Amino acid sequence: MSARMMWRCAATGAALVWVVSALVLGQARSVQPGDPLPGLTPPEFEEFRLGLDDFLEVETAEEGLGPAFNGTSCAACHNVPAVGGISPVAEVRAGRQMPDGSFAALDPGGESLFHLFSIPGHACQPTIPRDANVIVRRVPLPLFGAGLACAQSPKPVRIGVATSGGTTLPALVISQRKLDEKHGLKIEWVRLDQAALQKAFALRQFDVSFAEVASDLIRQRARGDKVKSVYAGIMANVYLLVKKDAPYKTIADLKGKKLGLYSLTSSSTAAIVRMVREKWKLELRKDFELVVAPPPVLAGLLQKGDIEGMINVDPLVLRLLESGNYRQILDADGEWQAQKGARLLVTTLAAWDDYAQKNPDEIRRLIRAYKEAVEIIGKDPQVYVSTGFIKDTPETVKLFHERFSKLYTGQWNQALIDSNRAVFDTAIEMGNLESVPADWYTFEYAN
Ligand code: HEC
Repeated sequence: MSARMMWRCAATGAALVWVVSALVLGQARSVQPGDPLPGLTPPEFEEFRLGLDDFLEVETAEEGLGPAFNGTSCAACHNVPAVGGISPVAEVRAGRQMPDGSFAALDPGGESLFHLFSIPGHACQPTIPRDANVIVRRVPLPLFGAGLACAQSPKPVRIGVATSGGTTLPALVISQRKLDEKHGLKIEWVRLDQAALQKAFALRQFDVSFAEVASDLIRQRARGDKVKSVYAGIMANVYLLVKKDAPYKTIADLKGKKLGLYSLTSSSTAAIVRMVREKWKLELRKDFELVVAPPPVLAGLLQKGDIEGMINVDPLVLRLLESGNYRQILDADGEWQAQKGARLLVTTLAAWDDYAQKNPDEIRRLIRAYKEAVEIIGKDPQVYVSTGFIKDTPETVKLFHERFSKLYTGQWNQALIDSNRAVFDTAIEMGNLESVPADWYTFEYAN
């Protein structure tokens, strides 16, 4: 046994009691640590027996022990006051603390454990390198009842996720990298297109949504539905595109011209109204000839020259830019940052209040898994292909990475909410929102 072997979860679980012993004190013989739980079924007892066997087994070099090792059986270290317990035998871990405070492993595999013993011949006896400046000893943890935790498989969280677009990618990464398992979650994904997804969430067909449009959630909350944003989703992926050879340099140059957009009521439109007013002193709804059509239709209109510019979303915009026939003259999120100093929020992770209150750990774990997915997306351009999100050439993957990795900020704080307040105020002024309840979001689960 070179370090810890995989060992039967159920076995020690059933086995090692002490929590329960208090409950059965009245009985003839009290249950002691290391005993099987009272009332086990025969198969459970068999698991217990097999687990105990494994735990007590003494390994030899012929069976794969070594070349370096810490102990020849689990029970060598886990044995006080009974098998499965603790002992004074300590492991040694070592590494290096860097000047910036970060920790670096000395072993290329990232391992910090240094085995104490080696098999005869001792050619492979590990020694702690000279440049280690952190050396710690750790005593064994008692494992009584550990199997009970294993036996309790988590109950599934039902999560709604869109079938395409920027909010989909973190869900794909969570599934593909098994981040749900890693964070002790069991997820049942409900995949629907964006519009159907929002309706289904409002009808409470699932408890948590990955792709709730912030302004719609606020509207829903204002109507009395007890729903809340629990974490940031994606930032705006909204751009203004013109033909490559058109003379326009900023949105102000399109004054009086036909400008396509996909919605008058979305919050990104409210944000653009606000930015155009504050920077260029123009009113989007008066100073431009607006043409409202669904995103793919707009692309056709621009191509035919029926409109001069269009406000549209990725990945559609990205695909058009790739063709080389178009130019982007405004990035809503970038412009918002320039004007307001913070990102422009579009979607959030949302949950029904009562579900979140009853299952705060599930929501916390989910946010942790989501954060990890976001980190992976930020670092690894391969996720677009490995998750099946796109199938493309390396150049396109690069473009996706440039534009998509910045959508997921992992930021969820008061500054973000405050800077987006102006969007919602503008939506109220435009008649798209009635009010903004102060409690439409919470930071409670994000830490
Ligand atoms: C050389 C002593 C030693 C031996 C032998 C040993 N353990 Fe441990 N065990 C420890 C120490 C020390 C810790 C806690 C410190 C740590 O995690 O670094 C620990 C922690 C654990 C944990 C806690 C879970 C975790 O990783 O956080 C489990 C489970 C465990 N051991 C199982 C086993 C099993 C199964 C075996 C036999 C295959 C075994 N141990 C053999 C010393 C030992």
